[in-house]
Amino acid sequence: MPASAATTTTTSSAAPSPSLLPCLHVHAHGRASAAAACCLLVLVTFLVVAACWWDPRTREASSWFLSPPRSAPSSFSSLTSAGGVGGGGEHLLATASSYYSAAAGFRNSTGKEVHQEVRGHGGDDRGFLSFVNSSFGYDEAPPPSAPAPASPVTGGSDEVIIQSTPPQVERRRDDVKLERLELGLARARSAIMEAIRKKDKVSPLPDKDYVPMGPVYRNAHVFHRSYLEMERQLKVYVYEEGEPPVFHDGPCRSIYSTEGRFIHSMETETEAEEGRRLRTRDPARAHVFFLPFSVVKMVQTIYEPGSRDMAPLKRTVADYVRVLSSKYPYWNRSLGADHFMLSCHDWGPYVSSANAQLFGNSIRVLCNANTSEGFDPARDVSLPQVNLRSDAVERQVGGPSASRRPVLAFFAGGNHGPVRPALLAHWGPGGRRGGDPDVRVSEYLPRGGGAPSYADMMRRSRFCLCPGGYEVASPRLAEALYLGCVPVVVDDGEYALPFADVLDWDAFALRLRVADIPRLKEILAAVSPRQYIRMQRRVRMVRRHFMLHGGPPRRYDAFHMILHSVWLRRLNVRIAAAE
Ligand SMILES: *[C@@H]1O[C@H](CO)[C@@H](O)[C@H](O)[C@H]1NC(C)=O
Ligand SMILES: *[C@@H]1O[C@H](CO)[C@@H](O)[C@H](O)[C@H]1NC(C)=O
Ligand SMILES: *[C@@H]1O[C@H](CO)[C@@H](O)[C@H](O)[C@H]1NC(C)=O
Ligand SMILES: *[C@@H]1O[C@H](CO)[C@@H](O)[C@H](O)[C@H]1NC(C)=O
Repeated sequence: MPASAATTTTTSSAAPSPSLLPCLHVHAHGRASAAAACCLLVLVTFLVVAACWWDPRTREASSWFLSPPRSAPSSFSSLTSAGGVGGGGEHLLATASSYYSAAAGFRNSTGKEVHQEVRGHGGDDRGFLSFVNSSFGYDEAPPPSAPAPASPVTGGSDEVIIQSTPPQVERRRDDVKLERLELGLARARSAIMEAIRKKDKVSPLPDKDYVPMGPVYRNAHVFHRSYLEMERQLKVYVYEEGEPPVFHDGPCRSIYSTEGRFIHSMETETEAEEGRRLRTRDPARAHVFFLPFSVVKMVQTIYEPGSRDMAPLKRTVADYVRVLSSKYPYWNRSLGADHFMLSCHDWGPYVSSANAQLFGNSIRVLCNANTSEGFDPARDVSLPQVNLRSDAVERQVGGPSASRRPVLAFFAGGNHGPVRPALLAHWGPGGRRGGDPDVRVSEYLPRGGGAPSYADMMRRSRFCLCPGGYEVASPRLAEALYLGCVPVVVDDGEYALPFADVLDWDAFALRLRVADIPRLKEILAAVSPRQYIRMQRRVRMVRRHFMLHGGPPRRYDAFHMILHSVWLRRLNVRIAAAE
């Protein structure tokens, strides 16, 4: 398979139909052909994050988890700052945010922001949703080890937002359950805030599998605390309505595999591992609600190839939300804010615009995480793209040390989208600086005659260039991490990187502006061997968070990191019971 074919992010045609094994039958014995394409890349938001955290103007309105500020002048780290990664620096899970307070900004289907008060059924001025701000719940709620208070949620006088006693007993029971859930979340917030406050004066939390540590994390201890809180508390309800293949199913392989894998893992999350079951069958106990549709499956089954008519896809999603919101009280209760959808297809964001509340309020977990197209890192989740060619990624993992990587930079892939033409025009065959033995950039790789495969090239390269395709995401990012190649994200800052609220991408990846493509070789060559070795070591450390295993998900893997991202965003929202 030519590299370009394997890595193309399909936008203009129906999705490829990879050989689909149901994910549930997948076991770890698969043989990964490391042959096809992919590269990698990643990026770094260190400067932005650090700048924002320290900027007193943004600090005031800070929310407690990362939301890369939209107005930041630059989200690129210079190499000099990359060289400083790991030294000092306040790497917190929480950082500045201009996130909503009592009013939510809605975005309509064109991606325009429409500010609008979200009001409760009762028209209460305090708003139906009260988004958590930096002072809510942290000082008032007891630390996690303290016994649970028996009293209702307290806090500032404003913080009691359970508004009144509804007429029906049934409904009141739901409200009491909601109140209890929110109390649990307030405790988790306060545990996390406590971890933030004490960050350097703590001993690691016990964990039989893994203790996050080191500079790949913005704050390893805070992440660990939050992760354990998630395991202790988080309950996800998966709506049962809808028929496969469009619902409850998804691609287990191909460049869209993270979409199918997540859906299948969620659907089959039944084995309680030491009580760490994240799925609940009782919606009244759920913190978040999953809409289990697959955009990739819709494209394969509903979309008329070549028609460019995406209306049927949108109708499917709009109908689905309509059914759920009339059948259950949960959607209307939060206007969708505690619901999430997930898609790795380029069209995911577009399809999410089928319902204004889905687009504007819900948590959208998307590979196509382009902040210039309405992706909001404070509310949405960036989903890593992984081109899974076999049952699990284990066979796709591993690579030599820096000294056995003769090539400085590598890219192979189709010439499309907004970034790659500039890259190929400069460094590709026939390009202005084409043919440079240190910078191997081409659409196709030579085949046969013992020519190195795509994966071989990644293993032989120190840096793997990861420009997006038609859209921002690229499977190259994860592949670079798997193969021990330091990823280089090439974009103009619009790609919201996966798990950036927890991971400090600057520690293990570089980010280049499109305008810097001509200077690419000089920039990469300026990274000292010492710094490179450090970054490569961190690439190996961060890998576990991008792993998709055959069989059931494992702690700290991609499935759990996705859920952790959802958990963080759910923590930033407080749902009030209806009147
Ligand atoms: C956060 O909550 C506090 C206490 O309720 C309030 O005084 C403050 O104005 C809120 N801040 C924002 C940004 O909403
Ligand atoms: C979306 O919002 C923008 C800005 O308010 C407005 O001009 C546009 O007409 C809206 N589009 C739709 C489809 O509502
Ligand atoms: C939720 O709101 C919609 C639109 O306002 C309404 O049609 C639906 O019946 C409501 N659902 C419930 C369960 O009350
Ligand atoms: C992100 O979206 C903007 C606006 O649609 C677009 O111009 C840009 O090319 C996109 N970026 C990438 C890397 O696809």
